[in-house]
Amino acid sequence: MRVAIFASGSGSNFEAIARSKELSEAGLEIELLVCDQKDAQVIKRAQKLKIPVFINQLTDFPDRGTYEQAIIEKLKPLKIEYILLAGYMRVVTEVLLSEYTNRIINIHPSLLPKYSGLDAIKRAYEANDEVTGVTIHYIDEGVDTGPIIKQSKVIRLKSDTESNLEDRIHQTEHQMYRQVVLDLLNKNNGVVE
Ligand code: GAR
Repeated sequence: MRVAIFASGSGSNFEAIARSKELSEAGLEIELLVCDQKDAQVIKRAQKLKIPVFINQLTDFPDRGTYEQAIIEKLKPLKIEYILLAGYMRVVTEVLLSEYTNRIINIHPSLLPKYSGLDAIKRAYEANDEVTGVTIHYIDEGVDTGPIIKQSKVIRLKSDTESNLEDRIHQTEHQMYRQVVLDLLNKNNGVVE
């Protein structure tokens, strides 16, 4: 299964997927990292892992449609089947959605629909929520909306700082994203669970 991963920041989810032997053995092929921030740390992670990077910045285009069209031109020859958003901090428009209908997956650090958008972990922490979590879902044109594939809870401990909580959420994210991609690979390989 040929995928492109889209990311804007640190890239820990990208790396968790890219380093998974289980996923590569099950047939995952990461053809490209698409990044919209030229200084993002995820670019260095991709270079270390020898995964090609396409840096594509919205500021270089007149609008979001032409920005996404440039991504499509890059993905098409690579025969990309799925797009995995991993900390890609942009709303995807109809241009990309219509080209990859039901084939774009996103991860978000909250139990959606709660805390969609930016700073989800911080907002759950500041609200003193006892339970927060992670959602993986297919996307639509909304902000962190679309059919949910999997959700997992993360319990806030009394001793948690925001940073501890964030670390545990990231650990949960890495496990969950690997599992969801593995399930997808198995489904596409005809393995019924
Ligand atoms: C992750 O927590 C991901 O869920 C979040 O960005 C972080 C990226 O971390 N995504 C969103 O908030 C999407 N709305 P990473 O760069 O270390 O993978």
